[in-house]
Amino acid sequence: MGDVYVRRAVESDQETIERILTDSWGGPIVIGHGVEFNAARLPALLAERDGAVAGLLTYHLDGDALEIVSIDATARHTGAGTALLRAAAGVAREHGLRRLWLITTNDNLDALRFYQRRGLRIVAVTPGAVDAARERKPSIPEIGAYRIPLHDELTLELRL
Ligand SMILES: CC(C)(COP(=O)(O)OP(=O)(O)OC[C@H]1O[C@@H](n2cnc3c(N)ncnc32)[C@H](O)[C@@H]1OP(=O)(O)O)[C@@H](O)C(=O)NCCC(=O)NCCS
Repeated sequence: MGDVYVRRAVESDQETIERILTDSWGGPIVIGHGVEFNAARLPALLAERDGAVAGLLTYHLDGDALEIVSIDATARHTGAGTALLRAAAGVAREHGLRRLWLITTNDNLDALRFYQRRGLRIVAVTPGAVDAARERKPSIPEIGAYRIPLHDELTLELRL
């Protein structure tokens, strides 16, 4: 298995980006902290291995920080997530930003482990935020990973 490379997405990647977002999140609309993003229209990084797409990260530059809006490894536990996170930190530094942050959900124990192992800290917990997002996007399931009822958002941050 070859190394993972990360590059900025270009116009011709649009179909791939929409497919990954649809497979992972049911479509390009992502709601976090009460804000709705069309992630397919955001700047994006693509991870590739041996010429094939291995993951996608979309982001939004916001004040002194880069917000990761979505991150998905198409095959997990092969290094794509780590490469994407590192590349996003690089983009933030290029812009002179001091923070990278993101939202995850209370069921996403794999992501919580992944982020904390890579230096991110939990800086806020918003009880009921997923329930509120579900009012706007009814396809958000009631039961999440590990059959955990899906209710809350957690904000994680990496100081750069
Ligand atoms: C969270 C997520 C992006 C992590 O991506 P990933 O590509 O699986 O992450 P990595 O492969 O870089 O790292 C995961 C683990 O696999 C290990 N790993 C990486 N390459 C490996 C390899 N070749 N062989 C064995 N293990 C490997 C890593 O060491 C890491 O373990 P560690 O945390 O103990 O160090 C991924 O799980 C995912 O897409 N989840 C679904 C979408 C999601 O929930 N996104 C987050 C929303 S907030």
